[in-house]
Amino acid sequence: MKAKSHPDGAIDLSQGTPVDPTPDFIQRALQEASNAPGYPVTTGSAELRSAIASYCREVLGAQGDFDVLPVIGSKEFVAWLPFMLRSKRVLIPEIAYPTYRVGAIIAGSHVEEVGIEATMWNSQPGDLIWVNTPSNPTGRVHSVDEIKKAMEHRSVGAVVAVDECYFSFGDAKKPISTFSLTEGNNRNFLTVHSLSKRSNLAGYRGAFVAGDPDLISRLLEIRKHAGMMAPTPVQHAVSVALGDEAHVEKQAKLYAQRRRRLTPALARKGFRVDHSEAGLYIWCSNGAEDWAQVAWFADRGILVTPGNFYGKGGTSHIRIALTATDSKVDEAIERILAS
Ligand SMILES: Cc1ncc(COP(=O)(O)O)c(C=O)c1O
Repeated sequence: MKAKSHPDGAIDLSQGTPVDPTPDFIQRALQEASNAPGYPVTTGSAELRSAIASYCREVLGAQGDFDVLPVIGSKEFVAWLPFMLRSKRVLIPEIAYPTYRVGAIIAGSHVEEVGIEATMWNSQPGDLIWVNTPSNPTGRVHSVDEIKKAMEHRSVGAVVAVDECYFSFGDAKKPISTFSLTEGNNRNFLTVHSLSKRSNLAGYRGAFVAGDPDLISRLLEIRKHAGMMAPTPVQHAVSVALGDEAHVEKQAKLYAQRRRRLTPALARKGFRVDHSEAGLYIWCSNGAEDWAQVAWFADRGILVTPGNFYGKGGTSHIRIALTATDSKVDEAIERILAS
């Protein structure tokens, strides 16, 4: 309310929804496939399956035996995975995207918040463990060692699901896909990737999961009967988008430039930036309680997100999204520095 009453209007840096256009060649692909009288295939068209598998091998470094499955945006997958796997306990990062918790609640599972250090986790057979790198909201990138330690929990029968939906936006650190670290043993491992941010396709709902063929076949069986199929035009658009990295590199540069411009302005006003080495967000704090920091920005007509939205560990931080146009980011910088 306060931010909206600013004389020049509010600048929304609270939502991680892309604002840069969907590349023309992807829009054309969607149109090309718009004559779609028949039902789409849940497992994905041959074209899409091949595009996802190539992406996994060539860009993510996948080795060994794995299967792939399109999903209707990665949020849908995150929300329903615990239910589909009948997970009794779900381990989630202590500061995390809220849907990991929501999914566990839908499934009636016990939720346990865990820190980064995976040797401290107490997993049991049948548990589902979520890892998110780069993280929303912190922008933290897991090290190879951290990922490997998390993956060791598979040996007791836990499923490790790694959400890499910000994989393409490395900045100070370059994310490494978990797929490249399995040495071909993909048992009890799933990774989810999304085109929402990678290709500015959030409105299309295009994402995929890849990993353990047995787990994927269980998920496929449920998804077929539950009508969870990606629309045919979207399947084609995603296939085309996955074959191009040039547009992704361009977008990654835009986010990095926005981060580079905003960070010094925040520092001048006493905000310390933590992590934020990749992804779409700046995770920062001036030491006050999160709502007081939200109010500081609202006084300047800027909307940001309080850290408590991501768990109790976030109550002294705020999240600033880089999903605003360059001119809006410049305007935000002026407002931050003006007072
Ligand atoms: C960590 C994380 N996972 C998954 C999603 C869902 O993205 P989508 O459903 O657009 O693929 C988001 C969206 O912000 C996210 O931050």
